[in-house]
Amino acid sequence: MNRRKFIALTAGAATVTALPKSLFSVADAQAAAAPFELPKLPWADNALGPHISANTIGFHYGKHHAGYVTKLNELAAGTPFAEMPLDKVVIEAAKAGDKPGIFNAAAQTWNHTFYWNCLRAPGGAAPSGALQQQIEASFGDFAKFRTEFVSKCVALFGSGWTWLVADGGKLAIVQTKDADTPAARGQKPVFTIDVWEHAYYLDYQNRRKDYVEALFDHLANWDFVAQNLAKG
Ligand code: FE2
Repeated sequence: MNRRKFIALTAGAATVTALPKSLFSVADAQAAAAPFELPKLPWADNALGPHISANTIGFHYGKHHAGYVTKLNELAAGTPFAEMPLDKVVIEAAKAGDKPGIFNAAAQTWNHTFYWNCLRAPGGAAPSGALQQQIEASFGDFAKFRTEFVSKCVALFGSGWTWLVADGGKLAIVQTKDADTPAARGQKPVFTIDVWEHAYYLDYQNRRKDYVEALFDHLANWDFVAQNLAKG
């Protein structure tokens, strides 16, 4: 199969291009170098309804995520960043400290690919196995974890992300502002919810808590989270 053969994908209000499914694992996307590409969504654009509409996906994926990928390619062209896998661009641009454009575009490309894979329909059933045990060890029980995660999503001022990360053998909930990501500083993200307004405003307007609870209770892909946790 021609790896560069693009297929058209109509996502809600926006028409975007994406690559064949064989290239779309999160690991593939994060390890790929320039030209950086917009990975295909892991589900149809209307699969998350009624919790997230195809209209929201059309703008969020088809405009915002796609825009970050385009900007990253523009800014990386002709620089050492064009030779690095996306994972490394995020880390090196953060280290450099004077490349906010590259960092923002790379981190948002990374963050969104990860976010889409944190969701599925149906989802939300409480996790089991090692993930359940680590949540209980770190937060007491799943209900307390849910309360803290939702609270931190709601409390984050402005635009950003709330993450579940594996850090030093424990799980922790961290907030990041704007494009910032735990992937830039050695923490291992295992789950996230995007709390930029573009993630929910078309469906929920200012009701961020309703959006977060809907994702957590109905769309969270705990199997993906467990897989992330199990990775070395
Ligand atoms: Fe977003």
